[in-house]
Amino acid sequence: MHPENTNFIYVNREMRTLSNIDYDITLLDWLRTNLKLKGTKEGCAEGDCGACSVLVHDGSNSEVRPINSCLVRVGQVVGKGVITVEGIGNEKKPHPLQTSFIKENASQCGYCTPGFIISGISLLNSNKDVDENSINDSVSGNLCRCTGYSPIVKALKSVGNNHEEIKPIQFVEQNNDVQLGLVSYHNPINLDELLNLTNKPNFRYLAGGTDLNLQRPIINEDQNTIINLSNIKELKNIEVQNNKLLLGSAVTIENFLVTIKDRIPELIELLQRFGSPQIRNQGTIGGNLCTSSPIGDIAPVFLALNAKLNIFGSNGRKKVNLNEFYTGYRKNILTKDEIVSSIEVPLPKKDYNLFCWKLSKRYDQDISTISLTVYIKIRDQIIDDIHLAAGGIAETPKYLDNLCKDMKGQKLDKSISLAINNIKNYIKPISDIRGTADYRIESFRGLFRRLEKCLVDGVKTMSIMDYNNE
Ligand code: FES
Ligand code: FES
Repeated sequence: MHPENTNFIYVNREMRTLSNIDYDITLLDWLRTNLKLKGTKEGCAEGDCGACSVLVHDGSNSEVRPINSCLVRVGQVVGKGVITVEGIGNEKKPHPLQTSFIKENASQCGYCTPGFIISGISLLNSNKDVDENSINDSVSGNLCRCTGYSPIVKALKSVGNNHEEIKPIQFVEQNNDVQLGLVSYHNPINLDELLNLTNKPNFRYLAGGTDLNLQRPIINEDQNTIINLSNIKELKNIEVQNNKLLLGSAVTIENFLVTIKDRIPELIELLQRFGSPQIRNQGTIGGNLCTSSPIGDIAPVFLALNAKLNIFGSNGRKKVNLNEFYTGYRKNILTKDEIVSSIEVPLPKKDYNLFCWKLSKRYDQDISTISLTVYIKIRDQIIDDIHLAAGGIAETPKYLDNLCKDMKGQKLDKSISLAINNIKNYIKPISDIRGTADYRIESFRGLFRRLEKCLVDGVKTMSIMDYNNE
């Protein structure tokens, strides 16, 4: 298939043209209001409940990925394929998973059910084993308020691998630039195309949009161009080199998670708690770093590992240490046309321990209150080398340079006491809706107690759950 018209999305295998819509409309609203596909529901409209889940796919492979359609603007999926619950099965010909939901009483009011079906199908369609862990992760972004999760898990288990795969159609993808209302939406597919766009007077970059799309509208009155970075080939590459990872900035959190599973297992829990599969499939590493939030989950890990950023713009390329990137609350050194093109992340050395901890009000799917990454080498109970970085303790994510210097070379127990007793000399957290400054300081002390316990007990890594259960 090779349409003349580039202004389209394949929905449930049919080409649907976009017409007379504003750039600001979400995929969810377009499906429900314009296409009258009401199976996809709106619960929270901010990525927390999964009622709006749909599957998206590219033209050339059969992988389908769940996303939250409330957090995606239509312009971001132009030229792609979308499968809604109507494309999975219907009353006359239900999918085996839908039949299993009925059999196991896995639906009561049914409002959440289309979202669970979409999440379940994406697991069944993947090459993962369908077990308790993979089921729990697959539905971690779906809320059910009345049925309870046991029948839902049972319904998924009983289908297991015994089902027909959902096969998306194949089509030719193009660089689909569209005009939506007064805004031009550009979807460059390589860096050369991107450079040709950066001479536009008023534009805004958008990658996954899981943060930016919470704002409505996302552009000011004087901006009329959005440049979507998430289709640029060079930004989606992952290279595993001898002692480092080279990650394109548009690599999704989910693809990052798959890459580190065997290489940096200490990071798995943090990335699973980063967000649901729907969020992880949409959010990008570069987006998480460049929103420059003091509580972004990735920055402390990369700071502790001494990551470097490759920056690309109309004045060429340059490399900077992540440690020099942040300049203030939600601010960084990028100029208007510059982007982070890739990130070089040294792989942890074998004789070091890596701990990546995040404290949040809720275990899953929540924003950090504080986080701490510790990359440490101990010899004979002496700290031979240590790199500490944290989120939620200042207006930017921070590498704790002075604390590292003061702890290095000391006996473990002495240096932990030093950190605990003098923590106020090293961090200056603010009070906000997620926690007071005092709460953050006390929690930070708690993380150092946990660090000592892990190192004394010889635990390679310790989940926050294990610690709380002690
Ligand atoms: Fe709740 Fe989209 S409506 S995640
Ligand atoms: Fe009612 Fe899940 S069945 S919210």
